[in-house]
Amino acid sequence: MRPEPDCRLCGLCEGRTKIVLPSGDLNSPVVFVGEAPGEREDLSGRPFVGRSGKLLDAIMEEEGVERSRVMITNTVKCRPPNNRDPTKEEMDACRPFLDHELSGRKVVVGLGKSACRDLLGYEGKMADIANTKMSINILGTDVLFIPTYHPAACIYNRESRDALRTTMRILRDEYLEG
Ligand code: URA
Repeated sequence: MRPEPDCRLCGLCEGRTKIVLPSGDLNSPVVFVGEAPGEREDLSGRPFVGRSGKLLDAIMEEEGVERSRVMITNTVKCRPPNNRDPTKEEMDACRPFLDHELSGRKVVVGLGKSACRDLLGYEGKMADIANTKMSINILGTDVLFIPTYHPAACIYNRESRDALRTTMRILRDEYLEG
């Protein structure tokens, strides 16, 4: 289940160039959920190819997690104007696609506040929950959820970057062996 090529379920359709669908290993036990496509993603139709994506790639490589072995997606599949946060209404409109993408996975990693707002209903600080193991219910089944920092929050912040590195090590050692 994925959005129709001419999806108009929310207002983000007005400004988008391309719908950004998941990338990587579409059958991976591990899924990263980002916030929303940015400019580069909107133009290319691929998630995390801009500045945040470059930092995500670098941290994954440093910690021995191959990007091709995980799946990467976003809470909403179309770029919000001026890269503002997606609204609850926009996330709700896109949620059936996200649920379909997440069902049956071993672990879902929430990259930053929007992913945690969408999947946990959490409105607090990432520092209070980063790298704790939680549970979310996806289509009637509990799935392990690990909240962590969005790569954009790591560009100028060493502590966030270290926490995102820790997330990668957890994935490498506990969920991507072999
Ligand atoms: N930021 C996100 O949250 N997702 C992307 O795909 C790119 C940047």
